[in-house]
Amino acid sequence: MDTAAQRDGWLAAIAAAADAAALTAVEARLFGPKGEVVELVRSVTSLPKEQRPAFGKAANLLKQEVEQALAQKRETFAQQAMQQELAAGGFDPTETGARPKRGVLHPITVVQNELVDLFTSLGFRWEDGPEVESEYFNFDALNIPGDHPARESQDTFWLTDKNLLRTHTSPVQVRTLQRAVKQGFQPPLKVIVPGRVFRSETVDKTHEHTFYQMEGLVVDRAHGEHGISVANLIHTMKTCLRVILERDVQVRLRPGFFPFVEPGFELDVNCPFCSGKGCSVCKQSGWIEILPCGMVHPNVLQKGGLDPEEYTGFAFGMGLQRVVMLRYGIDDIRQFTGGDLRFLQQFPEVSR
Ligand code: DAH
Repeated sequence: MDTAAQRDGWLAAIAAAADAAALTAVEARLFGPKGEVVELVRSVTSLPKEQRPAFGKAANLLKQEVEQALAQKRETFAQQAMQQELAAGGFDPTETGARPKRGVLHPITVVQNELVDLFTSLGFRWEDGPEVESEYFNFDALNIPGDHPARESQDTFWLTDKNLLRTHTSPVQVRTLQRAVKQGFQPPLKVIVPGRVFRSETVDKTHEHTFYQMEGLVVDRAHGEHGISVANLIHTMKTCLRVILERDVQVRLRPGFFPFVEPGFELDVNCPFCSGKGCSVCKQSGWIEILPCGMVHPNVLQKGGLDPEEYTGFAFGMGLQRVVMLRYGIDDIRQFTGGDLRFLQQFPEVSR
């Protein structure tokens, strides 16, 4: 093969490059798409089989030699540029470097952290529960018997051992009560349970199979000054929404049916996008459904080991994605797990 002439030509071109820009042009000619060196290496495939090993080896050595020459020349230009800058007095060794970009927290984490801060400041404690849950805690203990339609409305991922992926954070209510009773119940009990939940849903703009909720549970004595009422529930929910949505909010309660609360409510907030006038987000109603909640059902208290004559409580279950979407005006729930950095980088950098 007669590559010697080619080689000399390439090395000469590199040597002759007068500046960094010219060198880049030479590099493109040799290594860019259809570059001469690239083509040479590739031409091995057109040779008879027995010639390929020797040619391939020689071509690769040549490629390395040319690459090295390029790198050396580039280094020379970089040195020259630095010398020039120093000579011109433009280089200040005391100048602080460019600040490296920090990561950002996921918006769900941001909102969850704020909620946890808020509720712990109100005396709530963080509780955890398992993501792989038993049928008992996910349904039965929450007053959802086997033939109850509410089971079907929560399309469940069943596991082969009869356990399931929890469809909500509510099972932690009974787990927490049972544990608290075992330790000698000391009212009031105030817990929040942020966590991941799963449903066998077809994914679209507003539905995800994996999402985040935050459960809240407050239980105190039923009688005397401690009695927990719907008023306490509304006040707590309003405080929470005001902090999270960063504005004063109006709320309204509508009846809502959940077997583990009685009465149960859907708590709506006035639409932040149109201030209640009616828009496409609130479907012209001026209200957005945001917080299912209610007074803990006596059967649930009982399953937790408490006497419902003696204790009352309220509970709520917030969909975190929904709150984040409202707060930042996000219209597609799939963005959260889509992994698109352009989406994630819009949120503030982590500060330290
Ligand atoms: N667990 C319910 C769900 O995921 C939400 C819910 C409703 C939780 C009412 C509650 C509640 O604590 O009181 O659909």
